[in-house]
Amino acid sequence: MPQEAPPVDMDEASPQKTFCEFFAGIGLVYEALRRSGWQCVYANDIDPKKRAMYVGHYGAAAAEHYHQGDVWAADEVLQRIPRRPFLATASFPCTDMSLAGKRRGLAGRQSGALFGFLEVLARLDERRPPMVLLENVPGFLTSHHGADFAAAVAALADLGYWIDSFVVDAQTFVPQSRPRLFLAGYQQKLLRPPLFARRSDAELMNDRWRQTVERADRLRPARLRAAMESIEPLTGWAAVDCANPAASRPALAEAVDLDAAQAWWDPPQVERHLAMVFDRHRRKLDSLCGQQQGTAVLTAFRRVRQGKQRMEVRFDGVAGCLRTPRGGSAKQIVIVIDRGNLKMRWMTPREYARLQGAADYVLPDNAIQGLFGFGDAVCVPVLQWIDRNMLTPVWNAYRHDRELVASCSYSEPVALARTPSP
Ligand SMILES: C[S@@+](CC[C@H](N)C(=O)[O-])C[C@H]1O[C@@H](n2cnc3c(N)ncnc32)[C@H](O)[C@@H]1O
Repeated sequence: MPQEAPPVDMDEASPQKTFCEFFAGIGLVYEALRRSGWQCVYANDIDPKKRAMYVGHYGAAAAEHYHQGDVWAADEVLQRIPRRPFLATASFPCTDMSLAGKRRGLAGRQSGALFGFLEVLARLDERRPPMVLLENVPGFLTSHHGADFAAAVAALADLGYWIDSFVVDAQTFVPQSRPRLFLAGYQQKLLRPPLFARRSDAELMNDRWRQTVERADRLRPARLRAAMESIEPLTGWAAVDCANPAASRPALAEAVDLDAAQAWWDPPQVERHLAMVFDRHRRKLDSLCGQQQGTAVLTAFRRVRQGKQRMEVRFDGVAGCLRTPRGGSAKQIVIVIDRGNLKMRWMTPREYARLQGAADYVLPDNAIQGLFGFGDAVCVPVLQWIDRNMLTPVWNAYRHDRELVASCSYSEPVALARTPSP
């Protein structure tokens, strides 16, 4: 059964609070944004299996706005986007930003799909959304010694966007380490409080942009600040005034099923994996096994280190970053030590969903498909935080301005895709 839409704060809802989601995957951006009344009018992804998960979760009505196709097929994409959405999101592939992707960066076939999205934005012209949000891994900042990040900033600025960038780690909200880098773009007409532009002519103390950036200092680590200081976009930098995200993370044990009905490994498989554990980690495991009370919940990954398969265990109460399970090494392992008794198994799709903040997501029948979908996805509470603190405040500042609404041709509601129903 498709999932019922969460309650929407009707004060926040508006028929014009619309967005289109590029690289939509299984739709976790939508999962976050729909809670404050954003309506998805168009979603795009090339992967039919992700689309099947999206439709399975949101219901058949969602099939109407989910365009399964290549973002490079700009003619078709442009034709399918209704009118002018207020926001476009793009969590473009990170494959080429990592070592596994040989750090090809934006020159890579996968991550280079960003340019397909930018071409669509360029050709939308008058229908270009006033606000955009891009997401990728932190390696995007350092890819090709910063040249890829600078190129993306320049491309957005060429399209008329004022730029912000920030990093949010999912572990602020869920027990999963998943730092992600965001690039936001705001059209000039949105530059009003709480959005402040960097002023080159201002006294340092009076520069609201600087104060804003300093107030939420954890959002912009030193390396990112340095990049922001060194890159001068054609437009400029702009940031929404908000505080640092406050940590509110449940325990890992809340995301993991501890009952006997799980597919726990048999003793030989457990022993085989224990033999792969680094000595230091093994000593810690032995010490936890020696404690005859309480339950410890840990996670681990298998990795090849110096030609040997090893198992790396995390002891910090946070799961490792979920990935797509290409090869056994990307699948996460759960370790539970209950009153001295150690158990192990693969993490399940339902646990992946919880670690992405989408506990009630309707899972596909095929477990591997579920792991793929969630391994690639955005973390819902991260997007919710960004929405609450940046996207919706900017929308609210905008929507009360009739002149601005008219100038953005939002005087009439767009034809909306139906809200998902049970
Ligand atoms: C990082 S994932 C985004 C996941 C998504 N935000 C979610 O929550 O599920 C990147 C997505 O880009 C899609 N993709 C890759 N190349 C594409 C292309 N040329 N056109 C459209 N989508 C593409 C992949 O299928 C994948 O789902």
